[in-house]
Amino acid sequence: MKTIEIHGSTGDSIILISERLRNLREYIPSEKVVIITDTNVRRYYQQDFPSCEVIEIGTGENIKSLDTVQTIYGKLVDYEADRSSFIVGIGGGVVCDIAGFVASTYLRGVSFGFVPSTLLSQVDASVGGKNGVNFGGYKNMVGIFRQPEFVICDTSLLRSLPEIEISSGLAEIVKHAAIGDVDLFSYLERYHEKALKLDSEIIENLVSGSLLIKSSIVNRDEKEEGERRKLNFGHTFGHAIEGTTGVPHGEAVSLGMVVASAFSAKRNYLPYKDSERIEELLRKLKLPTKIKLDRERVLDALRKDKKRGKDSIRFVFLQGIGNAVVEEISIKELEHIVNLIVR
Ligand code: GLY
Repeated sequence: MKTIEIHGSTGDSIILISERLRNLREYIPSEKVVIITDTNVRRYYQQDFPSCEVIEIGTGENIKSLDTVQTIYGKLVDYEADRSSFIVGIGGGVVCDIAGFVASTYLRGVSFGFVPSTLLSQVDASVGGKNGVNFGGYKNMVGIFRQPEFVICDTSLLRSLPEIEISSGLAEIVKHAAIGDVDLFSYLERYHEKALKLDSEIIENLVSGSLLIKSSIVNRDEKEEGERRKLNFGHTFGHAIEGTTGVPHGEAVSLGMVVASAFSAKRNYLPYKDSERIEELLRKLKLPTKIKLDRERVLDALRKDKKRGKDSIRFVFLQGIGNAVVEEISIKELEHIVNLIVR
């Protein structure tokens, strides 16, 4: 087992790579524990849950709402949960985001931990202390920074996932490698087939390599006032594509990284051969690199991006594989790029 630490303003977080869900009871109090999970995860893994109250929510991005949060608050009140209660989110990104938000706000905050069950949530959503829900059609509009006490990345849970879920998680690993570690990028190029087949050694190395990059950025800039913005590489267009086409997050990030790499090359920041190398790796990982888009809807989504100012937006460019830079660009320039890529 490998461990990585995050030192946040609200407390420290320990990430346990290749620890097992069945050992969860070693990390939680002996009473007043409430698990928040989803229907699928409960069906597959309930036998490994410790005995405690379980709140089951549905699946899908649509339930990441204040309505779901309210329903959970109601159940916590019914269970007489108090300040000494401990919440564990067991599931994908949606479950972790909601469970973290509920735990951070119920009674002004109770302790919590996560057992992320998808590759995407193991390498991104569950780590770094961002908790929140969607609001008014905007992603992650309402939320709070608060670190979980622990994140158990049980890579054996990934075996029940469909291949597309594995690819989606690999998209976030490509993102981490692209912004912070060219060696991890080369490793992924070399072992892409084994990664897709969930070879345990390769997956563990990819999860830990990815989390080392993310955690070191979060340790330097927890509240996203500077360097953490690099973690949004591929996400400006990714979120616009996700919102307008409904493709899953990881696939949208893949498409967003293709656009951001091509944009970086167009500005002469990134050699064209490197932007092609990124696209090629995404293809090998069975991720989409091309999609039909509705220009007006994409423009509208970009205009509503929460990272934007009045006439500008912060955009993550690559200056090389493993080297990202964040720059303020005008909305006009962004619109020009959309006009080039959407015909
Ligand atoms: N997923 C981006 C971040 O955690 O900052």
